Amino acid sequence: MKRIFSGVQPTGNLHLGNYLGAIRNFVALQEDYEGIYCVVDMHAITIWQEPEELRRHTREVTAAYLAAGIDPKRSIIFNQSQVAAHAELAWIFNCVTRLGWLNRMTQFKDKAGKNRENASSGLYVYPNLMAADILAYKATHVPVGEDQKQHLELARDIAQKFNNDFKTEFFPIIEPLILGTATRVMSLRDGARKMSKSEPSDMSRINMTDEADQIAQKVRKAKSDMELLPGPGVLNEAGRVPEEAREARPEAFNLLGIYAALSNRALSDVLTEFEGQQFSSFKKELTDLAVEALGPMGAEMKRLMADPAQVDAVLKDGGERARAIAAPILEEVYDIVGFLRP
Ligand code: TRP
Repeated sequence: MKRIFSGVQPTGNLHLGNYLGAIRNFVALQEDYEGIYCVVDMHAITIWQEPEELRRHTREVTAAYLAAGIDPKRSIIFNQSQVAAHAELAWIFNCVTRLGWLNRMTQFKDKAGKNRENASSGLYVYPNLMAADILAYKATHVPVGEDQKQHLELARDIAQKFNNDFKTEFFPIIEPLILGTATRVMSLRDGARKMSKSEPSDMSRINMTDEADQIAQKVRKAKSDMELLPGPGVLNEAGRVPEEAREARPEAFNLLGIYAALSNRALSDVLTEFEGQQFSSFKKELTDLAVEALGPMGAEMKRLMADPAQVDAVLKDGGERARAIAAPILEEVYDIVGFLRP
């Protein structure tokens, strides 16, 4: 069975973007793949995290994985720092990746901001650790949101350079799996920006643990425009929203995309249903749908977060199983590199 690996950072406030863009896809994929789902705490500390918050957020992501329906028996759920192979392989990759490659990474530029001199060196080599995450298990498929494509391309380049340098075919070719109708969930306040935990206004996002009244308020207040809702005629031949149309009405297409994703329906279907309607009536439907989809999951997340022992036991079991896969792979890498081992 093909192996997939993916990770979510424990940096707080999991929202609809994390759910629709990533976590929900993990659940569907466990049918056909051996799934390894990681809470990437080592990636999180590339930017300062309060230790107590980091622990809480690590449990929160784990709770989200479980509440969303990832089966911890069938798949592996664990936090990255429990498996030393991630850090060990990342060091090898620090010596494979060229500085020029890292200098092209847009996420580093975004996250480092203006004061680049003050960014951690961990943030700079973040993509090497991400490549190590995947390749420590020789995973071939990686479900991620659009924004991670560049990192995955780099991971492929790293695997290929390692194979070339050491004249081996050791690492597999990594395939990104960018899935779903709403791979880019945008802010409820500004349809041109991604829904994000770092946006100051909580009204810009629907959190996975929001209560029904919060969801209702956020959807009601979500930015919209003055026109009636578009019909399926706007879609191009591939059934997608053309870029010009999206740029003209980013909020409308964001909300419609969220509706399609949450209802598991094609966008063309949703456009047919709401064509010519006002935002107000559509927003009521969207609220009901979001409450129905997220309500039980949010409640289960809260229940799990109130029971840290259960969550920690899942991570411990997952960590052991992950180590059992990664350790022999790392041994082979060390041998290929020429490290003397006892
Ligand atoms: N960089 C990813 C993100 O911020 C998280 C991540 C870390 C990841 N390691 C990974 C995703 C390996 C896929 C595979 O979303």
